[in-house]
Amino acid sequence: MNERSSKTPHPIPPPQAGEGGAHLPPPLLAGEGRGGGLAAQTPLLTARDLTLRFGRIAALDSVDIDIHPGEVVAIVGESGSGKTTLLRVLSGLMRPDAGEVSYLGQDVLGMTEAARRRLMRTEWGFVHQNPRDGLRMAVSAGGNIGERLMATGARHYGNIRDQAAHWLTRVEIDPTRMDEVPAKFSGGMQQRLQIARTLVTLPKLVFMDEPTGGLDVSVQARLLDLIRALVADLGLAVLIVTHDIAAARLLAHRMLVMRHGVVVESGLTDRVLDDPQHPYTQLLVSSVLA
Ligand SMILES: Nc1ncnc2c1ncn2[C@@H]1O[C@H](COP(=O)(O)OP(=O)(O)OP(=O)(O)O)[C@@H](O)[C@H]1O
Ligand SMILES: [Mg+2]
Repeated sequence: MNERSSKTPHPIPPPQAGEGGAHLPPPLLAGEGRGGGLAAQTPLLTARDLTLRFGRIAALDSVDIDIHPGEVVAIVGESGSGKTTLLRVLSGLMRPDAGEVSYLGQDVLGMTEAARRRLMRTEWGFVHQNPRDGLRMAVSAGGNIGERLMATGARHYGNIRDQAAHWLTRVEIDPTRMDEVPAKFSGGMQQRLQIARTLVTLPKLVFMDEPTGGLDVSVQARLLDLIRALVADLGLAVLIVTHDIAAARLLAHRMLVMRHGVVVESGLTDRVLDDPQHPYTQLLVSSVLA
């Protein structure tokens, strides 16, 4: 029944809330016990009633979402269903026609551009599908990591280099390649470098848009394993867009299924995948199993 337990052990404690009604997976903050207090229950990011049209197309149609500290939420759905648009709106990159986004009580849509950029450099991270969108290709691997550290105030050259070497190692890149430019790296390495650059500031919330898209299947599997380990280790909250149901199964506590800008189904990952309620989710799950 439960494929996950027979195949790959889940590194993060699986949600224990009653399958039926519960909406909140247990908080996963380090050191927090189960049900650990109100602070842990407060969402990191909350969005309500997000709506955005491009002409006749409803890219987002009354979308609600909450992400809690340490929680991994997958967004799945066919091409054009609004997944990237949702990430862009949640991270303040794009304005919706209507709706609200709040990060720890701050109004994301009302924030100045400077304040939003500051968040993006520190407490938030964005891992793009194409590493070229998240890396500076003309800057060395170490420089890519160091640059983000410096943006948060780090100044000491030796410390920055040490941190860069540490993070390269963590993403399984040989730190002796620190002075090479990313263009010399394979696609999988570039993606791991982008992840190192993102995580070096220890963000609380990371947006990932198809981080394994465009990579060979074997490389994808390795990258997913790495993401899974880092996310569990650092207690990151992650909102990950993926076409890949297996990746959602592996990584996410909860998932949202989108179609034509609408969240047609959401819930604990196991519940959604093992007992899909919406016909579109049923189709999605059965087409993967077929
Ligand atoms: N800047 C834009 N201008 C006009 N239409 C847009 C724009 N961005 C997105 N769209 C449209 O909005 C809809 C949602 O697009 P979005 O990129 O969010 O989908 P997606 O779920 O991320 O798809 P994919 O899986 O292919 O990346 C699509 O119909 C798309 O064509
Ligand atoms: Mg997209």
